[in-house]
Amino acid sequence: MLSVDCIEKSYKKGGLFSKKKEQVLKNISFECKRGECLGIIGESGSGKSTLGRLLLGIEKPDRGTIFFEGKSVGNRRVRMGNISAVFQDYTSSINPFYTVEEAILEPLHMKKELLGGVQSKIDQVLCQVGLNPSYRKKYPHELSGGEAQRVCIARAVSTEPKCILFDEAISSLDGSVQIQVLELLKNLRKLYDMGYIFITHDIQAAAYICDRVMIIRNGEIEEIVKVEHLKDVQSAYSKKLLQMIIA
Ligand SMILES: Nc1ncnc2c1ncn2[C@@H]1O[C@H](COP(=O)(O)OP(=O)(O)O)[C@@H](O)[C@H]1O
Ligand SMILES: [Mg+2]
Repeated sequence: MLSVDCIEKSYKKGGLFSKKKEQVLKNISFECKRGECLGIIGESGSGKSTLGRLLLGIEKPDRGTIFFEGKSVGNRRVRMGNISAVFQDYTSSINPFYTVEEAILEPLHMKKELLGGVQSKIDQVLCQVGLNPSYRKKYPHELSGGEAQRVCIARAVSTEPKCILFDEAISSLDGSVQIQVLELLKNLRKLYDMGYIFITHDIQAAAYICDRVMIIRNGEIEEIVKVEHLKDVQSAYSKKLLQMIIA
C-alpha cells in the first residue's frame, strides 16, 4: 500500500538567514501493506510527526520517494479520499465555527459516488464512532475531548480511505477514554478493511493496536518488529525503550 524509499528531510536551523541545517530524517525506507497497522514509536523530537507529514504529502522529502499503491503521494489526486489523518490536537483540527455535520461534510464533498447520499453517510459514521445523530448540530466547544476526537475519526473514515494516519491521536485523552477510542479504532479497521499508520510515543497503545512497530531514533529507523516479537527486540536502544513498559 505505502512504499517509502530512502527519504531524507532537513530543516533550517537558527535564524532567518542562517545556513545551518538540521537533518530530521535520515535514510528512511519501509513498506506498509494493505490493511496493516504499522506503529511508529520513538521519543519526542525523534522525527515521527515530520515523517507523518511527508507520508500525507503535506511536505515533500528532500530526497527519496513515497508511493501509495505505486503512485507518488506528492500528487493530491493520489491522496484524496485514500489517505486520511487524525491529529493529537482535536480542538484545532475542527473549525470552531463548524457544526459537527459541517466538519464531517468537508472531506465528503470530494467523494462524488456516495451510495445513499451524504446525509445518511453522516448519520452512519456518527453512529459508528458511538455518537448519537443529535450531535450533528453541536459545535466543537460543546464536545468533550473524547467526543471531539470521535468526530475527527468519523470525518477521517467518512471517505472510506484505504489508510488513516494517526499522529498522537489518543495521547491527550484521559486513560479510560484512550482505551475506548483504541477499541473503536480496532473495530473500525475491521469494518472498513483499512490500514493504519499509528504514530505515538506510547508503546503500550502501539502494542495494543499495531501489527508491526517501527522504532525511530534521532530520525533513523532503529528497528522494525512484529508486535508479537516486541519482547525480543535486538538493539540496546529498543530494549531500553521497552523496559519502560514491561517493568
Ligand atoms: N517545520 C519545522 N521547522 C524546523 N524544524 C522542525 C520543523 N518540524 C520539526 N522540526 C524539528 O524536527 C525534529 C523532529 O520533530 P518532530 O518530527 O515533531 O518529532 P516528534 O513528532 O517525534 O516529536 C525536532 O528537532 C523539531 O524541532
Ligand atoms: Mg510529534
